[in-house]
Amino acid sequence: MVAAVCRSFDRVRGRREAVATVAGKAAIPRAMKEFTDRVAAITGAGSGMGRTLALALARRGCHLALSDIDERGLAETAAQLQGARVKVTTQRVDVADREAVYAWADQVVRDHGKANLIFNNAGVGLGATVEGMRQEDFEWLMNINFWGVVHGTRAFLPHLKASGEGHVVNTSSVFGLIGVPSQSAYNAAKFAVRGFTESLRQELDILRCGVSATSVHPGGIKTNIARSGRIDPSIASLGADPNSANLKFEKNFITSAEAAAEAILRGVAKNKRRVLVGPDALVIDFMARLLPSLYQRLTVAVARKNI
Ligand SMILES: NC(=O)c1ccc[n+]([C@@H]2O[C@H](COP(=O)([O-])OP(=O)(O)OC[C@H]3O[C@@H](n4cnc5c(N)ncnc54)[C@H](O)[C@@H]3O)[C@@H](O)[C@H]2O)c1
Repeated sequence: MVAAVCRSFDRVRGRREAVATVAGKAAIPRAMKEFTDRVAAITGAGSGMGRTLALALARRGCHLALSDIDERGLAETAAQLQGARVKVTTQRVDVADREAVYAWADQVVRDHGKANLIFNNAGVGLGATVEGMRQEDFEWLMNINFWGVVHGTRAFLPHLKASGEGHVVNTSSVFGLIGVPSQSAYNAAKFAVRGFTESLRQELDILRCGVSATSVHPGGIKTNIARSGRIDPSIASLGADPNSANLKFEKNFITSAEAAAEAILRGVAKNKRRVLVGPDALVIDFMARLLPSLYQRLTVAVARKNI
């Protein structure tokens, strides 16, 4: 059997991706090239990239099941979708609440008849040192940014398989590629999302079950994430001002949430394993490959100038 395995190369836009083939048949699930008449569920759809993903998918004729912990933001997204010729359902869901996520997944299938895509997008920010971080803040972030993704993936997976054509889209970050000071909890969650999704993708490829998975790594995207995040006073020891850290961080946001959504959907349509969003994400990915541990000396040198 092993002898029957050969390799072919997908040359979409000149990029090569090794694809195992068995007896001439593609061993990976078919890429979801079309979103029309599919059903997409999105967590954190009340703001930022969750909202722009919803709008971009609606323009492609994709039906939407939207959730967020913030009902006001969710209602605003729904209002912006008025007139779209797709079915839109909304529900308040806290992704940290495992039972609520599973109940929502079942509800989506009852409302829409199927689920093809789950975008595990909801996320929060936290700036704190490892030593000074409050345990409850660490757990708050992990419960949303890591466990929320796990719950969403596992709750929807049976439904995606049943649809015959599914895709799990998990939002990590460039901070799932490199670690930086004051972001240990966020780094831990986003590295974990990347590892979880890369493992899932390979399992799905082996199973050839019609479902695929993509890990998304945005750079700085112009959304509310910095303003709504928590900042711990402990970051002052690293030379950062806890009162202005969020606004300062926001200055690094160079890509619009609209452009980010388009990049993510292009990546899903190409069945990419990893989607880098924004020019800064490309640079950081390159740096992580070129200087896999030396990059830390650079960030330390920059940070020490502020102390
Ligand atoms: N903006 C960036 O620069 C950037 C960079 C890399 C990764 N990301 C990731 O992108 C994803 C989307 O974030 P965004 O930038 O659009 O931020 P955002 O703050 O604009 O949107 C995040 C949404 O998640 C929701 N949310 C928060 N906690 C929740 C919970 N417990 N249950 C359900 N929903 C919850 C919020 O209410 C909000 O609507 C996040 O996972 C974030 O970590 C963002």
